[in-house]
Amino acid sequence: MYQDKVVWITGASSGIGEALAMEMAREGAKLVLSSRRQGELERVAGATQAAGASDTLVLPLDMADESALPGAVQQVLDHFSHIDLLVNNAGISQRSYCIDTDMSTYRKLFEVDVFGQIALTKLVLPAMIARKSGHIAVTASVAGKVGVASRTAYCAAKHAMMGFFDALRTEVHRHNIQVTCITPGFIKTAVSENALKGDGSRYAAMDDDIKGGMDVTKAAKIITRGLARGKKEIVVSQLPERAALMLKRFFPGLLFRVMEKKAEQENFK
Ligand SMILES: NC(=O)c1ccc[n+]([C@@H]2O[C@H](COP(=O)([O-])OP(=O)(O)OC[C@H]3O[C@@H](n4cnc5c(N)ncnc54)[C@H](OP(=O)(O)O)[C@@H]3O)[C@@H](O)[C@H]2O)c1
Repeated sequence: MYQDKVVWITGASSGIGEALAMEMAREGAKLVLSSRRQGELERVAGATQAAGASDTLVLPLDMADESALPGAVQQVLDHFSHIDLLVNNAGISQRSYCIDTDMSTYRKLFEVDVFGQIALTKLVLPAMIARKSGHIAVTASVAGKVGVASRTAYCAAKHAMMGFFDALRTEVHRHNIQVTCITPGFIKTAVSENALKGDGSRYAAMDDDIKGGMDVTKAAKIITRGLARGKKEIVVSQLPERAALMLKRFFPGLLFRVMEKKAEQENFK
């Protein structure tokens, strides 16, 4: 499905992005790997080339730096002439109560998880519309549908992205452009280690939810298959998060009580 397809993955230096790059490399994709850490991207690029990628472009990028995005898009178009699939996957999470979270931390998270994704998507769309072909995905989250304690910024950002991409899908369908919301539950990556505390510093610990999360390679296989099938939403989670989604939909009052109980058992400082 991905042979010679040009796939741009943001947040490709670790976790879900890295695992997606590896899955698509095995199928012969042409990859663009973006995130801030060039050394890590080069490590991943070496692995993707060895796994069968037909070309890999390392493109370091800070998603919070809007001014860098137009040049990055041009670099990809100069190198590959078009983009088949953009996976807006770069993101940071949060571990702090609202009361302890600085406004600057809310803004910092939104710059990456919301405004960066919107800005990059807007820049990639014109070439896709001109070609009448393309696919844009976002790694949203179960936290984009369910409110979780200690993640007010993260849940707000992921809810925003679900809304943005669901709305965008309705606009670009007429241009033959597909939009997919990837909705992971807990996946075992460095996401909690890289999460922001209230003052904007790194949380630097793997919490129990993430420790018990789905294996990232398994998650990437599910996502890759769903994207290839053009699914509009890909839920990739274990049973408890799936149950939370069902409760939110059919018994929201019960879910709110469950989440309050869960929050009472936690304590973030
Ligand atoms: N793991 C989970 O349980 C889970 C569940 C639901 C959704 N997600 C979402 O999945 C996505 C990937 O997360 P992950 O679990 O794979 O965690 P991760 O291992 O921490 O990966 C995050 C990626 O985002 C990149 N990134 C962070 N800030 C960036 C910035 N300013 N500019 C460009 N890239 C940036 C990081 O690379 P650099 O540090 O090199 O920039 C890294 O490659 C995120 O959007 C996350 O919210 C994860």
